[in-house]
Amino acid sequence: MVLVLGIESSCDETAVALVANGQHCIAERIASQADDFAAWGGVVPELAARGHVAALPSLIEDVLAEAALPREAIDAIAVSAYPGLIGSLLCGVTAAKALAGALGKPLLAVNHIQAHLAAIHLSQQSITYPLIGLVASGGHSHYYLCQAPGQMELLGGTIDDAAGEAFDKAAACLELPYPGGPNVDKRAANGDASAIKLPRPFIKEKDIKLSFAGLKTAFLYAVRGPQGKQELNLDEHGINDACASFQTAVVDCLVAKLLKAAQENDVKNIAVGGGVACNSGLRQRLQVEAENNNLNLYLPEPIHCGDNGAMIATLGYYQLQRGETASLSFEPLPSGRIADNSIRKR
Ligand code: KG4
Ligand code: ZN
Repeated sequence: MVLVLGIESSCDETAVALVANGQHCIAERIASQADDFAAWGGVVPELAARGHVAALPSLIEDVLAEAALPREAIDAIAVSAYPGLIGSLLCGVTAAKALAGALGKPLLAVNHIQAHLAAIHLSQQSITYPLIGLVASGGHSHYYLCQAPGQMELLGGTIDDAAGEAFDKAAACLELPYPGGPNVDKRAANGDASAIKLPRPFIKEKDIKLSFAGLKTAFLYAVRGPQGKQELNLDEHGINDACASFQTAVVDCLVAKLLKAAQENDVKNIAVGGGVACNSGLRQRLQVEAENNNLNLYLPEPIHCGDNGAMIATLGYYQLQRGETASLSFEPLPSGRIADNSIRKR
């Protein structure tokens, strides 16, 4: 059994997990600062970094205590290395380097976006590759042709906002608290999706391309008048209907391009990861479309859709198998391309 400790601190979640063989999560902790940032309407990078520093040591101890294992039982330490908020990334990376150095165990620098898709391994006995993977989160909405965990080629994606960002902006427009995605999701379950007519940009085009900026503006004008500046004048039903209309438009776009990418690449397996993969409307639609189109669908469990340490440990496990370890002197990157593996070798 190979035990990898995964550390995630790229944004406002501090998360630690111990995963066996890249699949079985033995113990994990996810501490979110989302409630602290509700008052600010978004993440304040400097505060997020301080939150990670305060949370990390006890989360690591809690995970080891729950697993009833000493530190020496850990075979390798994986950490979210890019992309993310640089101050936040540095907290997890520093903790991971300290542990790897002190224990004399390998260090694994993990790409956070790739890890979101690797999270499907935590919920399934076996995954068949190649697959088309969609990562839909607060900062990404892109499609990849994946040959193995962490080995993926970009096919296309959004040309402006990410899906999660669009959900958060739609929620703000309806005066729902941050982070908006889960609130829109809850409200949409009781709403009428045909109440507001909204565009589905690029849906008929063959390119693997998304755009949420125009959809977001159309939504703003629909609920806040032609200049988008009117007072919100919707009752509870009206808000639910607006949420259902917006969610359905986003889901239509995300699913249409996922099916198109699978068809064009002649791939029978599809997967979605990232915070938006929690969305119940998206999950339901994917189940239906996968069945109708004879595709195998892989979705992470809801707890492993948003930022978590288990997905980092899982991808770390596969990197360890391939010998893709990082040196103790590697530096995290705020950006970083999906194919940028050079960081592991520095
Ligand atoms: O993957 P994630 O936790 O962090 C990033 O790497 O960005 O994704 C966070 C995003 C937020 O925009 C949040 O509103 C969205 O995922 N999200 C959802 C849902 N849960 C989280 N969007 C729609 N429906 C949900 N249930
Ligand atoms: Zn994420």
